[in-house]
Amino acid sequence: RPFCSKKGAVPFFRGMNKAKIIISSNSGFCFGVQRALGIAKRALKEKKTVYSLGPIIHNPQVVDKFLKMGLLIAKDVKAVRDKNVAFLVPSHGINPDRVRSKRFHFIDTTCPLVGRVQKIIRDLKDEGFFIIIVGNKNHPEVRGLAGIAGANSCMVVKDKPEAKSIKIKREKIALISQTTAPLLSFKEVLSEIAKKDFTELRCINTVCKNTIERQKEACNIARRVDAMVVIGGKQSANTSKLAASCRRANRNTHHIESKNDLRLSFFKGKKSIGIASGASTPLYAIREVIKKIRRFEI
Ligand code: F3S
Repeated sequence: RPFCSKKGAVPFFRGMNKAKIIISSNSGFCFGVQRALGIAKRALKEKKTVYSLGPIIHNPQVVDKFLKMGLLIAKDVKAVRDKNVAFLVPSHGINPDRVRSKRFHFIDTTCPLVGRVQKIIRDLKDEGFFIIIVGNKNHPEVRGLAGIAGANSCMVVKDKPEAKSIKIKREKIALISQTTAPLLSFKEVLSEIAKKDFTELRCINTVCKNTIERQKEACNIARRVDAMVVIGGKQSANTSKLAASCRRANRNTHHIESKNDLRLSFFKGKKSIGIASGASTPLYAIREVIKKIRRFEI
């Protein structure tokens, strides 16, 4: 990653603007996404018919690339009649009950860190805990986690106001989070849940380290620059949360999917620009954005 540097202003070239560009060193794919795409590529090389159960990662450009390589997308195994195909379980995981059937061939690309949270939920359930998951109830990872816990043993809480409003009276409560939830939300929900009635409260911070470091560095950069650009899919939970955190630090924050979303008005009169990306954004997309920003007459 030669162009990523912690202090790093990108070199200035003749004919381009002089704005200082600072790029987060936590840019590009996280290890879980990198791993999932590697598994998918190998599966496609073996020339099997391969379906991904939903988008393999939440980045439309990368998904398009894989569709061109032959990957197909199915909402559910039941939607596919041919039984001689393989199904990829995406990096954010799904409810393992859905992939238990022996009639189908599943290739699991679930990030090991999501797999760890799935195991924690199983253990908590066995110990009789009521599980509160901090996250977005519509996100596939959270749906998978809630599916493991079972409808009667868990609830999903989005943020502090929601945590404040819930009425709960359980002996044993456990709190965990979606791996890409903002750490701050998790702590705020914890402070609210701690006020409820219970005899035991167990809290396990399951926000992934990559997410924490990405958010921390991006916010630090956002505080120091005149404008901030966060690159990544609009459907990507971690990119949207990253953009929201940066926006709190700098209201001139723009969440874009690719260079095509860039506008000169974002940067007019700005002397310093920060760049951060979600965990499912490829490095080439970041390079394209920087190249285009450099060519604007700021
Ligand atoms: Fe895994 Fe964290 Fe990436 S949970 S998929 S390493 S954002």
